[in-house]
Amino acid sequence: MSLLEEVVRLETEALERIGLADSLDSVKQLQIRYLGRKGPVAAILRQLGTLPEQERKQVGARANQVRTRLESELKAAADRFGEGKERGAFDPTLPGTASYVGTVHVVNQVMHEMCRTFYGMGFQIVHGPHVETDYFNFESLNFPPDHPARDMQDTFFVEGGRLLRTHTTPVQTRELNLRKPPIKIIAPGRTFRNEAISTRAHVSFHQVDGFLVDEGVTMADLKGVLVAFCRAFFGEGLRLRFRPSFFPFTEPSAEVDISCFLCGGRGCQLCKHMGWLEILGCGMIDPAVLEMAGHDPEKYTGYAFGIGVERVAMLKYKINDIRLFFNNNVRFLRQFF
Ligand code: DAH
Repeated sequence: MSLLEEVVRLETEALERIGLADSLDSVKQLQIRYLGRKGPVAAILRQLGTLPEQERKQVGARANQVRTRLESELKAAADRFGEGKERGAFDPTLPGTASYVGTVHVVNQVMHEMCRTFYGMGFQIVHGPHVETDYFNFESLNFPPDHPARDMQDTFFVEGGRLLRTHTTPVQTRELNLRKPPIKIIAPGRTFRNEAISTRAHVSFHQVDGFLVDEGVTMADLKGVLVAFCRAFFGEGLRLRFRPSFFPFTEPSAEVDISCFLCGGRGCQLCKHMGWLEILGCGMIDPAVLEMAGHDPEKYTGYAFGIGVERVAMLKYKINDIRLFFNNNVRFLRQFF
């Protein structure tokens, strides 16, 4: 094919394609494809110098003609699709663009809801540091050095002899050291343990600790507040079961089960056919803890409890794997928007 024939073929092809263009975008693409610096028209014009004079004039004139024609056709096509119309012109018939707005993470939602429930019962909300001293995390809570109970909570140590708090209970002794009874506090927040990650355990999770110290506080007060909380949170008519347990900072200590809110205690998959769900640890604050913080255990008594937030969220929403909370999978998280 001679260069002249090539120019004519190009013109036909380009005009046909411009006629078929169905959007401003496709017109712009054709503009680049045919009239761009790397396009075929430019390539032909560059080759002119290699041609004999007669042919050069002929091809040159035709190629320039084609270029002008394509320019005006492309401009007309672009105008058809709105180019040059008033800027910002708004077409109310087009479908809108959906945008997703971030929100509070489901673990924080549950933690806030727990705090709100206790706040309604007169507890004050107090936060403590994530990086804690051995003293507040363990010793002030009656875990002497080398006490085997320290093994109950595998610890991440950081520089300077500090550690990542293994529970939110150190907020208890921090506040006991600062205040005079009556003290009635809820301590929510993140905790850390050097655990193997599984469906039920993670290296980071959240707790809500609570305690009251005053004159004449008894285990009946503890039961009263926990029954009120569990019924407000999981549903009226719920039953609670206190099982003897051990924590160094409480004496006596107990673990609390609630009757399964899904099956009412008859037995189902959620409660593994036990009828009960383990929900928290609690007890009467050990006199040694009060004494270390400077309070007379003959005069004051107190109760304390600690609740795992992920555990509560998993029960509430029937989530079977704790890792889902930390994977940042938006499809999972969006369910709780
Ligand atoms: N700190 C305990 C833990 O992480 C939970 C706990 C139990 C907290 C009893 C308390 C309590 O305040 O009284 O396993």
